[in-house]
Amino acid sequence: MFHFSLFSIFCYRPEVQHGKYNLEDETVGQQTELEHPEMLSWEIIICCIVSGAHTFGRARCLVFRHRLHNFNNVPGSTDPTIDPTFGDVLKQLCPDGGNGDVLIDLDPTTPDDFDRNYYANLQNNRGLLQTDQALFSTAGANTVAIVNRFASSQTDFFNNFVQSMINLGNLSPLTRSNGEIRRNCRSIN
Ligand code: HEM
Repeated sequence: MFHFSLFSIFCYRPEVQHGKYNLEDETVGQQTELEHPEMLSWEIIICCIVSGAHTFGRARCLVFRHRLHNFNNVPGSTDPTIDPTFGDVLKQLCPDGGNGDVLIDLDPTTPDDFDRNYYANLQNNRGLLQTDQALFSTAGANTVAIVNRFASSQTDFFNNFVQSMINLGNLSPLTRSNGEIRRNCRSIN
């Protein structure tokens, strides 16, 4: 599927750089998919690349513990996309009703190294955040191929990550009808 650098595509698609669309907003995301199906895909792909930054650092229990206890408001249920052994460890570290500020490694394999293991963890259902695991566990998602690709080649991941960060850093401020900067990132102004 990916016979050339993801970046050559990114660089040649100026509409991606407008940054008009915020995937965090489900409603806008659906509208975008209807109007620009390719664009939504490419934004997700870029998200998949830069999320590799979660190869180190920590997250507080409060941002992911909904996956461990009462998932989807079902009492006692756990997110089925979490490896059961990993889930048991997390439940002990982040008990239901416990201290939400406890810090957990985003990459349980090599928590302080910038490497390809973030993607290997996703293949083993050991992504900490729901947004991380979704890159691999969403049926039919085009990010699955990227996870597999970067899990098998650290050099490939590094090259793509570097260029993505440069491209994101070069995004221009939005003016007039080009888009908007949200006052509240959860909704359009
Ligand atoms: C899909 C988009 C992303 C989401 C939803 C996301 C979400 C999060 C969350 C919830 C945390 C834990 C924060 C806390 O507990 O207070 C976190 C930590 C972190 N994120 Fe992201 N993130 C995203 C993209 C990125 C990107 C693009 C980068 C950098 C290029 C990044 C780098 C980090 C780092 C380094 C940490 C650990 C911080 C620390 O240990 O102090 N994230 N992220």
